[in-house]
Amino acid sequence: MQFKSIALLTIALSVNQAHATLTAKDVVNGIHNITELSTDTLDAVKDLNPENVAAKGLKAVQDFRQIATDAANENAAIASASDSLAFAEVDQQDICETFSGFVKAQEDLLQGLISQKSFLSSIPLSMPLGAVLRFLNVGIGKLSVSIIGLVPSCAEESKKEFKALNETLKETLKAYPVKLHLPGVVGTPLGLGLGQ
Ligand SMILES: *[C@@H]1O[C@H](CO)[C@@H](O)[C@H](O)[C@H]1NC(C)=O
Ligand SMILES: *[C@@H]1O[C@H](CO)[C@@H](O)[C@H](O)[C@H]1NC(C)=O
Repeated sequence: MQFKSIALLTIALSVNQAHATLTAKDVVNGIHNITELSTDTLDAVKDLNPENVAAKGLKAVQDFRQIATDAANENAAIASASDSLAFAEVDQQDICETFSGFVKAQEDLLQGLISQKSFLSSIPLSMPLGAVLRFLNVGIGKLSVSIIGLVPSCAEESKKEFKALNETLKETLKAYPVKLHLPGVVGTPLGLGLGQ
């Protein structure tokens, strides 16, 4: 019994500590990590072509999923700490600058994806891609709103940047609609559509 109480106390303390210790630097690092992954993913997206997409396409989709997951996790970390978060203006400025780079990286990544639309949107990979982009849209949107809530002293600029990014997200979802890709329904005998 006593052992159990100590274990519970330890958990309670570490949760408290997690709340108390989300620093502005942690937020900056978290955003920065997602920015780096997004930049790497842009290189992968630009590199895709009809010859290598079978080998490399799925990895790119997984990278998008990772960006969305990281965004959701970062948003959760901020949300669970945000009652106790009030950063100095200089720290808010750091976050705003990092957010600006994050938005730029997302914009570039989404534009890169849109420019690959002519071939990516017509192959079966567009199914998982379309799905993951919807997950990304939610993750980026929520994280951006959370971040903007942390930086009252420089939020105006961040809001403007996010508004433009939100438009690009919308455009990307339009370029990659969720659709059913059923071989057989379009006149190809079942089983022959995907394997060739
Ligand atoms: C950022 O990425 C590094 C290296 O992958 C990792 O060690 C660190 O924990 C990450 N930081 C945050 C705040 O996510
Ligand atoms: C982002 O755009 C969507 C429409 O695509 C809209 O519903 C949403 O409210 C926008 N988010 C913000 C925070 O402006």
